[in-house]
Amino acid sequence: MKKIKRREFINKACPKIAMALIGFSFLEACSKDSDDLMLDESIKLEENAGYTVNGKIIEIDLLHPTFSNINSEGWMNFTAQKILLVKTGSSYSAFNNSCPHQGVRSKWTYNSSERTFLCGQHNNSYPTDCESQGTNGGPLQCYTISKLGNTLTVTKP
Ligand code: FES
Repeated sequence: MKKIKRREFINKACPKIAMALIGFSFLEACSKDSDDLMLDESIKLEENAGYTVNGKIIEIDLLHPTFSNINSEGWMNFTAQKILLVKTGSSYSAFNNSCPHQGVRSKWTYNSSERTFLCGQHNNSYPTDCESQGTNGGPLQCYTISKLGNTLTVTKP
């Protein structure tokens, strides 16, 4: 076996290894078709669930069965996007579904007469006015929301 000095090995082998690694990554990164395919597939999946996500913007199809509870119950915990949605009359509100107390996301109920959410984890309640403190912890974090036709657009900060 022929001995080779460390520096000589690095000088000969590294450029080839680097080109192999960078070149392969470069080719993958430049493969626009595969990137587009992955993006299209993710959007399609969300459309089948009645919503699309584009960065911090979530568009919701109110006619989709996924969101039927907003009309029938007046609210829903949209867990897939970590959003509480409320309908009051003809207007809608959206909040981060992280409880201001300890961050639990799945124990919510809504009291429409008091317009408060109750987190069943420790039974603290939180007004939906985007300002008032809850019984333990700060206010619920409000998201910007708008409605056009049957589409709600929620924008996270
Ligand atoms: S985590 Fe919600 S009340 Fe404690």
